Amino acid sequence: MVSHAHFDHLGDAEKIAERTGATLIGIPEVLSLCPGAKNTHPLNIGGSYRFPFGYVRMTPAVHSSGVAGGLACGYVISIIDGPTLYYAGDTSLFTDMQIIGAKERIDYAILPIGDNYTMGKEDAARATQFLKAHNVIPVHYNTWPVIKQDPEEFKQIAESVPTTTVKIVKPGESLVLSK
Ligand code: NI
Repeated sequence: MVSHAHFDHLGDAEKIAERTGATLIGIPEVLSLCPGAKNTHPLNIGGSYRFPFGYVRMTPAVHSSGVAGGLACGYVISIIDGPTLYYAGDTSLFTDMQIIGAKERIDYAILPIGDNYTMGKEDAARATQFLKAHNVIPVHYNTWPVIKQDPEEFKQIAESVPTTTVKIVKPGESLVLSK
């Protein structure tokens, strides 16, 4: 699932899909940049589809797409007999996150906190409240000096809501997701 075509997100998606035969899911304009991917499934904003592993809904994101005519997006991913995840992609805070939180029980929200290109830590904490997310994984920070953030500060702000747990995952670490 690709959120948009900026290089730090699209990355090697085409090569991985080419090598493994994995299905590449994205907005049509982004998928058009990946002609080598054998299996693709286009979705557009607000649309959902039931895949063998569960359902996926493409959600709006307020960000540029990196390809003419495209839109940046996020995803709600509800795994069969498993957790429901919301991956925001790159985005600012937007009030429709409240609708996502009202519609789904979000077990894990993956939210950018880096500021400059996306929302920063305060807005990401507000997003956590909008989403009523139980666990939050902060992403999109400390890659470059302009998006330097201390994830512990985000943890402190977001966990002021007692039902929220922030899970900081360092590069190379893994996290087992449970419902
Ligand atoms: Ni981006």
